[in-house]
Amino acid sequence: MSRAVVAAVALTTTAACTQAPPQVSSPVFTTARPTVSQAAREFFGIRPRPVQPIAFPHKRHIEKGLTCTDYCHESVTKGPVAGLPSVKTCMICHDAIATDRPLVQQVANYQKTGIDIPWQRVYGYTQAAHVRFNHAPHIRANVECATCHGGVAQQTVAERNVDLTMGFCVNCHQQKNAPNDCLTCHY
Ligand code: HEC
Ligand code: HEC
Ligand code: HEC
Ligand code: HEC
Repeated sequence: MSRAVVAAVALTTTAACTQAPPQVSSPVFTTARPTVSQAAREFFGIRPRPVQPIAFPHKRHIEKGLTCTDYCHESVTKGPVAGLPSVKTCMICHDAIATDRPLVQQVANYQKTGIDIPWQRVYGYTQAAHVRFNHAPHIRANVECATCHGGVAQQTVAERNVDLTMGFCVNCHQQKNAPNDCLTCHY
């Protein structure tokens, strides 16, 4: 990051992002950031560890030849949001597959009671972060899911083991000549 860009950050922070917490704006590009940002996160309670209503085994499904974009996250290639599958999506297969397993019976029970499975978000920003993200251009540019979400394909319940900080986004945008002004990612 050049001096000019750092200066621009300092200048534009107040102009473009007045609603972002001011105390964490300048440490963004300093070595102190990880601690400050972690402290900020804890303070805002942004990232509690999610507990899923059903321990969905990602790995098992990938091993059966499914890909992330089959059924469950198919909107990822089309627009901003990857989407979390409704119980109807699960039942496309589990009406018939593995119906004797207790976990699958729990899935079927959601379907019967007409309540959708209350999946907890694993990745995502709070409204207060004013982050704008769009999946589709990344998929078009052949950025792998794993770059931003780690090895979900090898996990049971999806774990958050990539920290999607601003530096993470900005560094790649710089390397790939993707747009990098504040309003690309903030509103
Ligand atoms: C395209 C088909 C398909 C879809 C859609 C699908 N599954 Fe599966 N699921 C499978 C297959 C195949 C298995 C492996 C069954 C086996 O081991 O015999 C499996 C296994 C499972 C298991 C493990 C069962 C056990 O204890 O052995 C669970 C739990 C499960 N699925 C839940 C879900 C949920 C929840 C959804 C919706 C989010 C879903 N599945 C969507 C095909 C699917
Ligand atoms: C460049 C980074 C990046 C790539 C590549 C990427 N994602 Fe994401 N993903 C994100 C971000 C950032 C969020 C949170 C977005 C938000 O809150 O608006 C997210 C959210 C999600 C969510 C919602 C998670 C939740 O718990 O609510 C799913 C599902 C998801 N991504 C699936 C995928 C899949 C599948 C792929 C590959 C086809 C993929 N993503 C590729 C960055 C990425
Ligand atoms: C590994 C590289 C990489 C990472 C990490 C990454 N991006 Fe991107 N991003 C790109 C590329 C490449 C494009 C496509 C640029 C194009 O279409 O010309 C893009 C495009 C975008 C766009 C659409 C820009 C536009 O106006 O067309 C947004 C918004 C965006 N990224 C936000 C983010 C955010 C927020 C993060 C962090 C969570 C992030 N990106 C992480 C590589 C990356
Ligand atoms: C490529 C995407 C991207 C660009 C460009 C970008 N940001 Fe961010 N920014 C993010 C993401 C993602 C976060 C949320 C990070 C988190 O929650 O860990 C963030 C967070 C912030 C925060 C909150 C403090 C923090 O560290 O969490 C401020 C302030 C901020 N950005 C200011 C700016 C300014 C000013 C610019 C222009 C110089 C800018 N951002 C450009 C992606 C971007």
